[in-house]
Amino acid sequence: MLIFRTSTGKDGTIWCVVRAPSPLIVGALRPHWTTAEVAGCPFGVLVAALCPGRAPDEVVASLDVEEQAYANALPSSSRRSEWLGGRLCLAKAIARCSTVRSPMLSTTSGAAVLPEGLAGSVSHKGAVAVALAAQVRGGLGVDVECISERDASLERKVLTAAERARLRERTDISAAQYVTAHFSLKEAIYKALEPKEQMDLEFDDIDIQLVTLTQQVWLSPAVKLLTRQSVVRTGILLDGDWVLAAALREPCA
Ligand SMILES: CC(C)(COP(=O)(O)OP(=O)(O)OC[C@H]1O[C@@H](n2cnc3c(N)ncnc32)[C@H](O)[C@@H]1OP(=O)(O)O)[C@@H](O)C(=O)NCCC(=O)NCCS
Repeated sequence: MLIFRTSTGKDGTIWCVVRAPSPLIVGALRPHWTTAEVAGCPFGVLVAALCPGRAPDEVVASLDVEEQAYANALPSSSRRSEWLGGRLCLAKAIARCSTVRSPMLSTTSGAAVLPEGLAGSVSHKGAVAVALAAQVRGGLGVDVECISERDASLERKVLTAAERARLRERTDISAAQYVTAHFSLKEAIYKALEPKEQMDLEFDDIDIQLVTLTQQVWLSPAVKLLTRQSVVRTGILLDGDWVLAAALREPCA
């Protein structure tokens, strides 16, 4: 669980203290609305930030005017903050991959629009925003989740029969960790697919071989899409109670 308190420094900077977790994902001691790269993602540049409350004016001003107008038209302040946090991270990730910049609005299916030649993806959980970008021809997906004991109850919804059988053999990770990891990987995979393959995709359509889950190490579980043609590769990082999942859809041959 993310537990943080804020204090205001002499220069007016608001600092957050993150007790658990997560030096890797949101930074141990970093001002809010400040981005940093999460090291080691196998598929591209992964950027994260802690973005609680209203976006500071300088963050809004750093974005393209079309993005600012898009954010202003969003229906609630929480949705605006979430969207802006994601775009702040995506802008940083894109800038690390390319000098090309175009408005990162949203497609009709809801995905972020990326500049030509780039793939990318956004996720948020509470105040945490993450974005992944790379110069690849296929698709990318990213997802961030915070493990809660209640997640174990989602076992039947999220896991295939084979994944449930494998869970029974596991003693090294909790059911909540196992279920959340699968949920997060499947959400990241969904985002990496093309809209026509996303249509009617069910959790049961994806089988993941999560052989191990080690704290603070990127792992690459094997994935089979049981009902789709695409080939995807995945990466997952467990950091305290937080899970970051990334997926790369290989370009069509
Ligand atoms: C679209 C979806 C993946 C978003 O996931 P979420 O956990 O609700 O929210 P996240 O914060 O992780 O992700 C939201 C971001 O996903 C991106 N997104 C939304 N729809 C998308 C799509 N069709 N394709 C790719 N990315 C998409 C957007 O960038 C969005 O953020 P933004 O609107 O601020 O730009 C989810 O709502 C969904 O529809 N899942 C698929 C249905 C499902 O569960 N199928 C089961 C098998 S996978």
